[in-house]
Amino acid sequence: MNTKIEAKTAFEWDVLEGFSKYPRSIPSKYFYDEKGNRLFQKIMELPEYYLTRSEFEILVNQKKEIIQSWGLSNEPFNLAELGAGDGHKTKLLLEELLKQKFEFTYYPIDISQHILDVLEASCRENFPQIRISPKATDYFEALEYLSSHDTHLTVTLFLGSNIGNFHFDEAVAFMKQYASVSKSGDLMLLGVDLKKDPQVILPAYNDAKGVTAEFNLNLLDRMNRELGADFKRENWSHYPIYDPQTGEAASYLLSLAEQEVYIDSLDLCISFEKYECIHTEISKKYSIKEIMRLAEGAGLTVLEIFRDDEQYFASIILEVK
Ligand SMILES: C[S@@+](CC[C@H](N)C(=O)[O-])C[C@H]1O[C@@H](n2cnc3c(N)ncnc32)[C@H](O)[C@@H]1O
Repeated sequence: MNTKIEAKTAFEWDVLEGFSKYPRSIPSKYFYDEKGNRLFQKIMELPEYYLTRSEFEILVNQKKEIIQSWGLSNEPFNLAELGAGDGHKTKLLLEELLKQKFEFTYYPIDISQHILDVLEASCRENFPQIRISPKATDYFEALEYLSSHDTHLTVTLFLGSNIGNFHFDEAVAFMKQYASVSKSGDLMLLGVDLKKDPQVILPAYNDAKGVTAEFNLNLLDRMNRELGADFKRENWSHYPIYDPQTGEAASYLLSLAEQEVYIDSLDLCISFEKYECIHTEISKKYSIKEIMRLAEGAGLTVLEIFRDDEQYFASIILEVK
């Protein structure tokens, strides 16, 4: 591989880094371009993708208890959301908070400006009275941004099992960073996918219609579109696995042939062997014990745990000490 390569954008930099080492990888945040957002909205409606349904059920049935557990006063507060997406489930909470006449400003944060535009438009249409201030940025920068806020209480939503995109140690480090930039008494509503029958988990990443495969393969198209790469779709396939021991579902792009790919914006040529793969995502599932270890490791207190009827998903209320 040519070593004198210059990366200009974060995407170029991350692709260069991920392809310069073995095993090869690309951070999962790059799934979410405009097409990726649309595909993820389709994934959320798939029968196999139980995660959205389970978390939705918790919020529909227990939203009052969840809000009650925050112990809000009459003071205005900040409602931040990390990786908000289209806010499909969040709207249940927004509606209830407005109904109960709480005064708050909603700060949805997402790496994708496109999905934030979709979210903002639908919030303004459905809740014209809402104060909303979206910000397109990475989670890590978001934490800095949130810490620069006023002295009001901040409740942070981190839904959709987004925390599962980190390995356990990374999740602890991230939550530690969240705790360190937050004020004592700040709260988080964390959505966590629970360990369950692997036969239920794997199909969520390998649906019959192939939408998840399309979502994964779109990464190749994105590199073709944005970095001038020449990946050939027919030379790659979507390959998901689930390891019940670590609780990690992982997705790969599997090279079906020995091939060379050229990335124009990096002036980089990469050789892939037949059956070599690119790691594109993990989605870690937790036991309740692991959730307690995560909170303890980050110095957060678990106030309450809400679950759906099937015990597939957990909504955890965490407090900064
Ligand atoms: C799996 S979707 C979940 C969306 C929403 N929270 C839900 O529960 O439906 C993940 C969302 O997080 C955003 N995202 C992924 N990685 C991110 C990162 N590192 N920083 C900020 N946003 C990120 C994506 O753009 C996407 O909208």
